[in-house]
Amino acid sequence: MTMLPIKKYLIYFFFLLPFFGYAEDGSQLWLRYKPVDAQTQKQRHIRLQDKHETALLAKQELDSYWRGPSIEMHLDKKAKRLKEGYQIKGDTSAVYLTAAEPIGLLYGAYHLLRLQETKADMRHLYIEEIPDYDIRILNHWDNLDRTVERGYAGYSLWRWEELPHKLSPRYEEYARANASIGINATVLNNVNASPQILTGDYIQKVKALADIFRKYGIRVYLSANFSSPKVLDGLADSDPLRKEVQDWWKVKVKEIYQHIPDFGGFLVKANSEGQPGPQDYGRTHADGANMLADALKPYGGLVMWRAFVYNPTEEDRAKQAYQEFVPLDGEFRDNVIIQIKNGPVDFQPREPFTPLFGAMKHTAQMIEFQITQEYLGFSNHLAYLAPLFKETLDADTYSEGKGSTVARVTDGSMFRGEKTAVSAVANIGEDTNWTGHHFAQANWYAFGRLAWNHQLSSEDIANEWIRQTFTNAVDFVTPVRQMMMDSREAVVDYMMPLGLHHIFAFDHHYGPEPWGDRKGGRPDWMPWYYHNADTIGLGFDRTATGSNAVSQYYPPLDSIYGGINSCPESLLLWFHHVPWTHTMKNGRTLWDELCIHYDRGVQQVRGFQKTWDKLQAHVDQQRFLEVQSKLKIQSKDAVWWKDACLLYFQTFSKMPIPYDLERPV
Ligand code: GCU
Repeated sequence: MTMLPIKKYLIYFFFLLPFFGYAEDGSQLWLRYKPVDAQTQKQRHIRLQDKHETALLAKQELDSYWRGPSIEMHLDKKAKRLKEGYQIKGDTSAVYLTAAEPIGLLYGAYHLLRLQETKADMRHLYIEEIPDYDIRILNHWDNLDRTVERGYAGYSLWRWEELPHKLSPRYEEYARANASIGINATVLNNVNASPQILTGDYIQKVKALADIFRKYGIRVYLSANFSSPKVLDGLADSDPLRKEVQDWWKVKVKEIYQHIPDFGGFLVKANSEGQPGPQDYGRTHADGANMLADALKPYGGLVMWRAFVYNPTEEDRAKQAYQEFVPLDGEFRDNVIIQIKNGPVDFQPREPFTPLFGAMKHTAQMIEFQITQEYLGFSNHLAYLAPLFKETLDADTYSEGKGSTVARVTDGSMFRGEKTAVSAVANIGEDTNWTGHHFAQANWYAFGRLAWNHQLSSEDIANEWIRQTFTNAVDFVTPVRQMMMDSREAVVDYMMPLGLHHIFAFDHHYGPEPWGDRKGGRPDWMPWYYHNADTIGLGFDRTATGSNAVSQYYPPLDSIYGGINSCPESLLLWFHHVPWTHTMKNGRTLWDELCIHYDRGVQQVRGFQKTWDKLQAHVDQQRFLEVQSKLKIQSKDAVWWKDACLLYFQTFSKMPIPYDLERPV
């Protein structure tokens, strides 16, 4: 049957939509390259000797999208120092891309495309990039029923019920997006792990994903449930010192590697928030981690053992990871890395760094960030997280004197483990735009870029991302970059300024509930545990008169944080119980300053709305409207936070809201 011409055109139209950038639903992320025409392809050449599938992929990307001069790609096995990195040299007539590994060529190809898309000056290129961390890994908190713990972008990308036979095209798109920013590893399942992930059936499903990701340089890891031997195969227990249990893991690991030869290893949440672990059998975290490490060792696998442990005891929650792990320093196998959340409580809008960083000098350590905005307004609030990530990376632990930043403590420049790594909890789901909020894509992007090079500035990363994701128009880039740069601090201001933390509504962690007091609930899950508001003042005394958490920091930080006048005001209520009338550095009382911060947060979000509204001409209608409506939610939420917190705290301070601020409604 002949098609009516109009139908034919329609088909062409829809087929070509993505290429011309009309499908503006955010599904293309920052990868919006336009295919080059046949003429350009003929004029310049992308040359490659190697036939490795990853190298060929690099060639294919450049063949399809590169508009510059001819490129000579070259694998130089001797250039080992480049690791997964690359060297680019070139001018307007030719470009030479060299790498030691095929994946380096792919990363180099994406670098060139990034320069092209951001309209960088490419007349003289001399670039050498070597990643700061060996392993740059996403943690998916995805359950096997496809719900995502703390996920705000729809169900899980992994369609377990269809795998391994049916493969969603998004698996490859996901891998490509990660490769374009240097992410080279992924943990597929939730740290609250179902033992089922280690059954033969699921290993086949995981293998199907690993087979797709491999070409993009991505290794698969799994979260392992410590009770798996008992639950899956009916062993009497899962005691790590029992030979039968050790053998069970050895057999299981062997089975995994038979199907997935480049399997990365296990991530483990043990003896934390009700998860099983070695302490169930009177063993230590080291006993548990080492047993798994021994099983993985022959295959080059790693154990990422989480330090997120705390119990409802008299002891300050913020101190417990340090107390638990420091005595075990030096007892872990060299293929174990302790995975430590950036802050000592739990991914709050602002926390000091966890004092465990730098405190274990004979144990490899890695950072765990959270990209998904569990505590920063889910996928409803615009909060650009690069400044938060940088705050931790750049924080000086003083562990070996000045300059011992968290970045240097973990990137191998101070302490050398078998491998270095950095991780973050992903914000990715099956939503068309992947992350729920268009601007939340920037946080996935920023994590990848910082994992590659932790010295990049938040501004530069925002700049790159905006230019690739939206437009190069300066009238758009400049205000949007400013909005992004201000956004995290705005969230801190309208949610919990000056070091306040964890005053979220119980369990879901979206709105405010500083008054929350669930009878019979765990005290360390109640907001008043953290804010301690009373008639005298506000904040958690972590000095020597309180929990003395300050003593876990190296000098001079212990005394800086410990002094009410030396403590940075952004962390004041984290470390001190401060009288309402305390004089702040600018001469205001604590109470007035608190009010001003809350109000400032609200005003800033209103400012974001105004900024965005003026940019309509630069953005496609769909993304313009979607961001606009999210900002509306954020603006209302900011007022909700401010009113709820100030009215509640006012019942203790009994002081008036400063006259020039917007009144609570
Ligand atoms: C937070 C989060 C939990 C998560 C836990 C973890 O407490 O609310 O959902 O399981 O962190 O990191 O293990």
